[in-house]
Amino acid sequence: MRIAVIGTGYVGLVSGACFSEFGVETICVDKDQGKIDRLLKGEIPIYEPGLDALVEKNAKAGRLSFTTDLPTAVRGADAVFIAVGTPSRRGDGHADLSYVYAAAAEIAAALDPDDYTVIVTKSTVPVGTGREVARIIRKTRPEADFDVASNPEFLREGSAIEDFMRPDRVVIGTDSDRARQVMRALYRPLFLIETPMVFTSLETSELIKYAANTFLAAKITFINEVADLCEKVGADVHDVAKGIGLDNRIGKKFLHPGPGYGGSCFPKDTLALVKTAQDYGSPLRIIETVVDINDRRKKAMADRVIAACGGSVAGKRIGVLGVTFKPNTDDMRDAPSLDIIPALAEAGAIVAAYDPAGRHEAEKMLPGVEWADDAYGALSGADCALVLTEWNEFRMLNLSRICKAMKAPVLVDLRNIFNPEDAEMAGFAYHCVGRPG
Ligand code: UGA
Repeated sequence: MRIAVIGTGYVGLVSGACFSEFGVETICVDKDQGKIDRLLKGEIPIYEPGLDALVEKNAKAGRLSFTTDLPTAVRGADAVFIAVGTPSRRGDGHADLSYVYAAAAEIAAALDPDDYTVIVTKSTVPVGTGREVARIIRKTRPEADFDVASNPEFLREGSAIEDFMRPDRVVIGTDSDRARQVMRALYRPLFLIETPMVFTSLETSELIKYAANTFLAAKITFINEVADLCEKVGADVHDVAKGIGLDNRIGKKFLHPGPGYGGSCFPKDTLALVKTAQDYGSPLRIIETVVDINDRRKKAMADRVIAACGGSVAGKRIGVLGVTFKPNTDDMRDAPSLDIIPALAEAGAIVAAYDPAGRHEAEKMLPGVEWADDAYGALSGADCALVLTEWNEFRMLNLSRICKAMKAPVLVDLRNIFNPEDAEMAGFAYHCVGRPG
C-alpha cells in the first residue's frame, strides 16, 4: 500500500515514520523546503526519543521518503493523510482550519481520476471539517473517486512512537465501507495485536478527539484543585490520587498535580471545543471552567515562588530547572514557564535556567534569562531553586551539593519530583504541590 502524509509536524512525521515501519510505502510532504532538505539528510526537526532511528531505518529501506512535491506524492496513493497544523485562531479561540482546507484544495487538484483515494484528517479538527474537506474536493474535482475519513491521533509528545505503535485504541470515522477497508488494511499490524478499533461516523470521530483531550485536561485540573485543598487541610495529594485512581472507573493516570497543563494540544483543544459547543448552543460549562482555572493557575504559580522567598523576589536570583511544557520534548508551546518566568522577572527577580532540550526554543521566548549548561550551573548562588519540568535527570540531583552551592536554601518543586524528607534533610525549606512539606 502507499500513502501520502501532508505536513511533517509532530503528528505527520511520527505517523509517517510509523506507517512506514508497518510496511506501508509512505511519502511525507511539507511546503518548507528547508525542513524537507534536513529530513532527507536524516536530521529530525523535532526532539522525540527514537524517531531518528525509525526514520533512518525506513528511509534506508526505501519505504519512507520526503518531498515538497504534493501532486506526485498524492497521485497513486491509497490514502492521503492531512496532518497540518490547526492552531488557535487569533482573537476567538476557534481552530484555524486554513491549512487543512488549503491542503484539501491541493490534494483535490492532484487526485488521479482513475484511482480511488481515501482522504483522511489526522490533524485535530472540529466537527464538520471532514464534510467540508469532502465538499472542497468535490467542488474542485467532481469526477474524482474518493471518500473522506477521520482518524484522530492520540499520541503524546515524548512517547509518540510507543503511543502510535501500541495505542489504547484506533478511531476511524467514515460513512464509506470502501474507505473503512483501506483504513483497516493500513492498520493491519495493530489488528494483529488486538488493538480495539472504533469505527464510527465522521462527526463522532472528530468529537471523540476533542472529548478525550478535554476530559484529560479536566482530570488534571481536578487533581490540581484537590492538591490546593490538600495543602489547606494537611492531606497528601499523591495518596488521594492513588486512593481514587485504584478505582478502575477513575483510573490512575493523569492525576499528577503541577503548575497547570500546557503544550500544543490541551490549551488549544479545550478552547476550540468550548467555542464549538457555544456555537451549537450546547455550552460545555465544565470545560469553560477548566480553561479558566488552568489559566489562573499558571499565573498564580509565580506568587507561590514569591511567598516561598519571604514575600519578595526583587533582586533575588531564581534558578529554574526545566522550561518545556513536559519532559522529553523541546516544545515550549503554552508551557507554564512562559507565564511563571516573566512574572518573576517582572517582580524583580534575576532568572537563570537549565533545560536538557528546550533552551534553543526557549531563548527566543524568554528574553533576559541567563542560560546554564547544567542544573548545578543554574542553581549556583541562587536564592531559590524552582522545578518547572520533571525531567528524569533532575530526580537524581545531589540535593546537599545544590543546597551548599545556593545562597538561600529554598526549593520550590512544582512537579513534586523530590521526596519532602530528602529535601529537608539536605537543608532545604521545601515547597511542593499538595503534600505536607
Ligand atoms: C496530549 C494527549 O495526552 C495525547 O493523547 C494527544 O494525542 C495529544 O495531547 C494531542 O492532542 O496531540 P501531549 O500534549 O503531548 O499529549 O502531553 P501530555 O502528556 O498529555 O501532557 C499535557 C500537559 O498536561 C503537560 O503540560 C503535562 O505536564 C500536564 N499533565 C499531564 C499534568 O500536569 N499532570 C498529569 O497527570 C498529566
